[in-house]
Amino acid sequence: MAGPDPILRTSIAGVELSTPIVAAAGTCGYLDELGDAFDLGWLGAVTTKSITVEPRAGNDPWRIIDVPGGMMNAIGLANVGLGAFLRDKLPHAAGLPCRAFGSVAGHSVDEYVRMASAFDAGTPFPVIELNVSCPNTATGLQFGDDPAALRALMAEVRPAVRRAKLFVKVSPNADVVRLSSAAVEGGADGLTLVNTFTAMSIDVATRRPRLSRGRGGLSGPGIHPIAVRMVHDTFRAVAKPAGVPIIGLGGTLRWQDAAEFILAGASAVGVGTALFVDPRTPVALAKGLARWVRGQGARGVGDLVGAVEG
Ligand SMILES: Cc1cc2nc3c(=O)[nH]c(=O)nc-3n(C[C@H](O)[C@H](O)[C@H](O)COP(=O)(O)O)c2cc1C
Repeated sequence: MAGPDPILRTSIAGVELSTPIVAAAGTCGYLDELGDAFDLGWLGAVTTKSITVEPRAGNDPWRIIDVPGGMMNAIGLANVGLGAFLRDKLPHAAGLPCRAFGSVAGHSVDEYVRMASAFDAGTPFPVIELNVSCPNTATGLQFGDDPAALRALMAEVRPAVRRAKLFVKVSPNADVVRLSSAAVEGGADGLTLVNTFTAMSIDVATRRPRLSRGRGGLSGPGIHPIAVRMVHDTFRAVAKPAGVPIIGLGGTLRWQDAAEFILAGASAVGVGTALFVDPRTPVALAKGLARWVRGQGARGVGDLVGAVEG
């Protein structure tokens, strides 16, 4: 087959995708880098790594390590900054055979507003994802760990995004349902669930943390069943009643993992850590999902969203 089965065509928040598979923020470069490994037409979308107003060098090494069941990272939002992104990276979006979603981050409400409005006005991205797993320099708390802080952030960012659909990438390190509810009340068009789980790994010989920052975010297969439960809970309590789509992610390696997210309530499925294991994973996911959708007698992925029994 030359490309993905048309049965995989779907849409989230009115944005049409040729497959429900989305390359996750921070795991596929800025835009087109994975195109060296496979035809990006197998993806519904690639998500940029999170971009900040100013360039950031990120944390010292080690900032990525492997652990049983996945990997941990403390990249520290290394990125070229908004100006260089728009000048040097954005032109690559024009040649992509899939959608490009923009991910934005910041350390103050003002930074988020500047980033989101710059992406809304100056890029073709149909979706802007707010990575709220950043410490607020004013309070030291992460925007995404506190529903009140998230509500205050949305009150400023929502009016600044007029064209694109605004998604909130929810942290799993606090009450996901309450955070998702705050995001939707604040006007989010969609939810991306979940970001990495705060974790720690220690080198027992040196007795020092293995990551330079001491702690980092756990991703990969070890988090998958927890992420499925979080998508399920959020779909039932928040997303379904509000009619808001979820991009479900966390540890998807096999098509069955992606299918689980769909049955739990995700309209699209993100893939991150698997791209480090085999960058061609999205091709296998798309082929397996298409067979599954047909085998279930469904007309498309949409028929199976939230269709878990019991
Ligand atoms: C190396 C690495 C870098 C990441 N960078 C970002 C980022 O810039 N912005 C973001 O929202 N999430 C970032 N994430 C989180 C992923 O997008 C994803 O939510 C998480 O890894 C769970 O999915 P997975 O288990 O499929 O990797 C990063 C994850 C990894 C492993």
